[in-house]
Amino acid sequence: MIKFDAVSKNYPNGTTAVDDLSLELAEGGITVLVGPSGCGKTTTLRMINRMVEPTAGTVSLRGRDIREVNAPELRRGIGYVIQHAGLFPHRTILDNIATVPLLLGWSRKKARARAAELLELVGLPGEMAKRYPSQLSGGQQQRVGVARALGADPPVLLMDEPFSAVDPIVRAELQAEFIRLQKELHKTIVFVTHDIDEAIKLGDNIAVFRTGGRLAQFDTPERLLAQPADDFVAGFVGQDRGIRRLSFVKAAQVPLREGAVLSATSPVTRARASDEPWVLVVDAERRPLGWAAVAELPESGTLADAPLTPLGHTFSLVGDSARAALDSALLSPSRLAVGVDADGAVVGVADAHELSAGVAAAEVPEAAEAAAVDAAPEVAKDGDAESRVAKDEVAKGVDAKTGDAAGSVGPGGGER
Ligand SMILES: Nc1ncnc2c1ncn2[C@@H]1O[C@H](COP(=O)(O)OP(=O)(O)O)[C@@H](O)[C@H]1O
Ligand SMILES: [Mg+2]
Repeated sequence: MIKFDAVSKNYPNGTTAVDDLSLELAEGGITVLVGPSGCGKTTTLRMINRMVEPTAGTVSLRGRDIREVNAPELRRGIGYVIQHAGLFPHRTILDNIATVPLLLGWSRKKARARAAELLELVGLPGEMAKRYPSQLSGGQQQRVGVARALGADPPVLLMDEPFSAVDPIVRAELQAEFIRLQKELHKTIVFVTHDIDEAIKLGDNIAVFRTGGRLAQFDTPERLLAQPADDFVAGFVGQDRGIRRLSFVKAAQVPLREGAVLSATSPVTRARASDEPWVLVVDAERRPLGWAAVAELPESGTLADAPLTPLGHTFSLVGDSARAALDSALLSPSRLAVGVDADGAVVGVADAHELSAGVAAAEVPEAAEAAAVDAAPEVAKDGDAESRVAKDEVAKGVDAKTGDAAGSVGPGGGER
């Protein structure tokens, strides 16, 4: 969809902002450009809409060298969102959002109707339409920025650190909202951030840049976590990449064992005979009630009479990741994670060691083309379905709410 072929950008002062970049971005996915400050992310992004012209190499869009397309026409198909929404302060929110449709010559009525639609799409109440940007929170402004970028319904969206200027809670809300929006819109999005967590949360594919404008690795988030290409990437991804990788493994992929699971109506003698220090007590539907410590069981009677220790939490084999499973094991008084099915009935248990062995055995999905970063700049198709599911889960788990936020957009033209 968007292809960089041996692209470099050198400034007259001798700075190499981007160095021999070859990269192909999939249609309909989110590609994140991530790396330390000054590594060439913004320059790379702006070469897509010709705000910056390469010194060498070719950028093409849907197979066409973008130098053959005049800049205003090119930008009509490319929305642009920047860090501080970049809204026009003296125009109402509705008029800000209507900017591009008006530029395209739509009637005022039609442009405003479209703007009202977009306001709703980004989760802002209609009453905001008449306000001015300064009357909105940073997060809300950022949303308006996104709405403005979507004005002409461009197939491509460039976003340069759009959520970096808001506080962490609003940022998490904006990210969740952004994932929801993309599920609806399926735009081809190039998203710049310096935050690797944001990259992993949002990206279908991630291009990690190192200082000097060099591409260090282009891969799916899970492969970046599982197999960083070198020490730079490993360091950038962080010390806890093993734990974070668990978010991309489905709990259903890790093997469970039956364990000592007994109904509350069972006699305590059965629990003692189990030869386990802890017995999981369940109701008639096999839903877990709690753990019974075998050493503390009464002499006689049933498990219904035994003191139970709360579970901590269970994990679902239908929706949860291996990360939830491991957490369940770590918090459980018996050190055993309890896996349940869609009805909440116990399927089995596993301790942290067993989970970790299971995770190690779970395959990292091949992203063959995406892996061929340096050599042949082929591209990963579109993050595979599993990774998407996992990512959605992560997003849901971390920020289920919706909030307000800010956004900024530029129809291409003069923003910087
Ligand atoms: N107009 C310019 N003239 C000279 N150097 C520039 C110019 N724009 C960017 N640079 C330099 O190019 C490098 C990459 O910049 P940029 O793409 O903005 O990095 P990032 O967005 O990753 O922080 C930096 O060293 C920056 O100082
Ligand atoms: Mg930048």
